[in-house]
This record gives sequence, structure tokens and C-alpha cells, in this order.
Amino acid sequence: MSHVPSPQKASRLTIASIARLYADGERIAMLTAYDYLTARILDEAGIPMLLVGDSLGQVILGYDSTVRVTMTEMLHHTKAVVRGTSRALVVADMPFLSYGVTPEASLENAGILMREGGAGAVKLEGGERSAKTIETIVRAGIPVMGHIGLTPQSIHQLGGHRVQGKTRAAGRQLLADALAVQQAGAFGMVLELVPEQLAAAITDRLHVPTIGIGAGAGCSGQVQVITDLLGMSAEFTPKHARHYTELHAIIKAAAEAYRSDVASGAFPGPDESSRMDDATLDEVLGRTALDRPEGVETGSGIPLDRDL
Ligand code: KIV
Repeated sequence: MSHVPSPQKASRLTIASIARLYADGERIAMLTAYDYLTARILDEAGIPMLLVGDSLGQVILGYDSTVRVTMTEMLHHTKAVVRGTSRALVVADMPFLSYGVTPEASLENAGILMREGGAGAVKLEGGERSAKTIETIVRAGIPVMGHIGLTPQSIHQLGGHRVQGKTRAAGRQLLADALAVQQAGAFGMVLELVPEQLAAAITDRLHVPTIGIGAGAGCSGQVQVITDLLGMSAEFTPKHARHYTELHAIIKAAAEAYRSDVASGAFPGPDESSRMDDATLDEVLGRTALDRPEGVETGSGIPLDRDL
């Protein structure tokens, strides 16, 4: 077998790369991604960690919560994001009840997201209550990111999207959750909707990175839902999100311009069309040059050999 050197490719980031960023004191930017093309752009932009979040249930599939997201859906989107990236560490969310029921099922489902989906790590929700599950998965060699604070899969239990850990008991529980997740072997954890002082204090007490969403600037990194960042929704943006552009308005204006161009006949124009030789067309249609319909322009300036 001959050994042909392959072109030098930048290798994909791993949890060791994330640990290095953390050790170097770099703030880590993470974004959600759900599809191939967006993932490609985010990878090109140098985002080191992409989360295939089960938030896709709401922002891609139109469900009312993440509770309805299935393994099949997570796997489908994870594969697309992995195909679109060559550099970012892709973290796949484990959907509701795909973990924490039995250790065997948790491990099997984490394995599917890694083996079939191509993810580099999985994320699951819960602090002390999920510590054993995290330990089981990590022991099998699968990197796990924890997720504490507001855990959207428990929304029916929590009773709404509220800031967590604001009382003495809840704050202490959150600290215990963070330590349990770290102790179980998670390489990092999301802190969602946590008061900034508490998030900063938790971050100070850990030796793995915290990735905040609605948890203030004292976390080791930040994660945002990509559709919030891009301003895709006209109705609702969470308080903790910042629109870096207004894609809702941009896409709507483009669609309206297109609709109007189609209606007026301005689209497609010569640049978006191709032509064939008129004599060949006559042969295809079994007619002579004299049978050509009146008023149909021949040779409108589009080169005959132009491929679109
Ligand atoms: O599913 C998701 O997008 C998440 C982020 C909010 C962290 O879990």
C-alpha cells in the first residue's frame, strides 16, 4: 500500500483544547448550531465549541419546549453540524429521558451521538441528580458537559423560565450541583439563568470552565442560541441575548423583493438563465425556423455555452 501524504489539515478541537483555553484564561465563545451551512460559517468564524442544543425543538422544529425532542432528531442535526465543521468541538445535547433512566440507556444514547452523529462530547442537564449518569458516561470515555441552573427539560417542574439560585437554599444547592458535576468528571458545564455574583463565585470554586447563558460576565465562557444572536425572531428575544444582526428583517425584505420580482417578471433575468442553440431547439421540437413563435427573442445576449 502506498503512503500518499495528505494535505495538512487543522485538527479538530477536543476537550483538551478547551481545557487549554481555560487554563490560558481565554474566555470561551460557544454558539448553538443545528444545520450544515450555519455550522460551516460559525466554524470559519473560529467559534471553538458548537452546541447542537435541544433548543432546536423550539427554534428549528417549532415545538413548545425541548421536552418533545427525540434522539432521532438530535442525531439528524448533529450529523449535519459535524459535516459542516472541521475545527470546532461539536457538543450534542442528550434529549429528555435519553439519559438518567437507566445507566445502560444513558450510555447507549451518548454512544449513538458520538459514534453515529460524530459529536466530540455530549451535554446533559442536572446537578447532583445527574452525577451518577455523568460518571457512567465519562468512565466509558465519552466527554460530558453538564448543565445546571435553569434546566429547560425540567421546565414543567420548575414552572417557567426563572432565574435560579436566588434564595439561600437554592444558591447552596446550585453550588453543590456544580461541585457534583465537576466531581463526576464533566469537562465543563453550562450555567443557565443564574445571578451573576453566584455564577462568578461558582466559577471561582471550580477547576473546569463554566459556560454561561444569562449568568453574567464572570463565567469562563458564554453560550448563545444562534437564532437569538442573529435576530431571527420578531416576537421574542430573551433578556440575556444580544442581537448581533437583524436577520428577521433582512430575510423578510429579501423575500418580499423576490416575490415582487417574480410577479413583475424581473426575476429571473439573463444572468440567472441559460440558452440553447435555436437550430437544435427546432430539431428537438420538430419544427423549422419558420415555425418559431413570433416575438420570442433569439440570442438575447446570453452565451450559448454558459453553465449556471
Ligand atoms: O439547548 C440549548 O440550546 C442549550 C443552551 C441554552 C445552553 O442547552
